[in-house]
Amino acid sequence: AFPKRVKVVEVGPRDGLQNEKNVVPTPVKINLINMLSETGLPVIEATSFVSPKWVPQMADHTEVMRGINKLPGISYPVLTPNLKGFQAAVAAGAKEVAIFGAASELFTKKNINCSIDESLERFSEVMTAARAASIPVRGYVSCVLGCPYEGKISTAKVAEVSKKMYSMGCYEISLGDTIGIGTPGSMKEMLTAVMKEVPVGALAVHCHDTYGQALANILVALQMGVSVVDASVAGLGGCPYAQGASGNVATEDLVYMLNGLGIHTGVDLQKLMDTGTFICNALNRRTNSKVSQASCRL
Ligand code: HMG
Ligand code: MG
Repeated sequence: AFPKRVKVVEVGPRDGLQNEKNVVPTPVKINLINMLSETGLPVIEATSFVSPKWVPQMADHTEVMRGINKLPGISYPVLTPNLKGFQAAVAAGAKEVAIFGAASELFTKKNINCSIDESLERFSEVMTAARAASIPVRGYVSCVLGCPYEGKISTAKVAEVSKKMYSMGCYEISLGDTIGIGTPGSMKEMLTAVMKEVPVGALAVHCHDTYGQALANILVALQMGVSVVDASVAGLGGCPYAQGASGNVATEDLVYMLNGLGIHTGVDLQKLMDTGTFICNALNRRTNSKVSQASCRL
């Protein structure tokens, strides 16, 4: 049975924009987040407190956090890979953060320059500081259906890393198909393994659409009881350390599908499409949302 309601986590301003070649002006980012705040989305991932040498596009994180209208009832989490990032995020006004690990050693090395075990040590420092500050922490696990460097990833490894991050105190584990390589078959297998270690109510799926499988994979996750889904307006995005990976499932397309299933999201599809039009115009590109394409808005 499908869940009655789904929490849509908008990751466009972070996952979407981190991968842009050209610097996106800070006022455009702020405008994007402010428009998203008017659509009914409950969670909008705003930026990353990572090294500007690694991801120059997120270097304006503090200005973004200070510049946006933070509406009551909406959470604006930010990525924090270590204690330094956590402290900078809190100083900039962040009230929720996300730590990001992976089920692949090589991806972890390329993405955050350490081993999985070292990453978990860094995360536990963040968890301790977050607990003291009463800041909720979301946990990402990348490469859950495949890795750009290692290829196949075992479901046991995904379950192990997910369990460790959940046991550390993450309130939610977002399972990332970083390179969009999964299918409904591999999604089902992976979730079956992870659900033995982490309650399904604490799981989210984060599907990049590189192979056009994102909505199908999400549908399987919903059938298995997952009720939190990450998405990116206009299907923006990718990961700078996963070459060729395209954006997340477009939020417009996800909301359209959920509307069709009669699953409540609270999101206004028209306002979402207008926001997609805004960011595509600002970036001078075509939307990756099929729903927006069909509506001839771009
Ligand atoms: P490092 O070079 O190993 O760090 O990078 P370090 O601790 O050795 O420090 C080196 C320098 O970085 C020092 O500065 C530190 O102060 C500084 P220097 O003395 O050279 O001037 N530094 C920092 N600066 C700002 N913010 C910080 C920070 N930490 C250290 N937080 C590090 C390690 C983790 C910092 C680096 O590898 C990094 O920033 N990586 C981020 C990569 C990233 O953002 N990737 C994209 C997000 S993940 C993703 O997209 C996947 C996801 O969407 C899910 C999915 O799709 O699967 C979430
Ligand atoms: Mg991602």
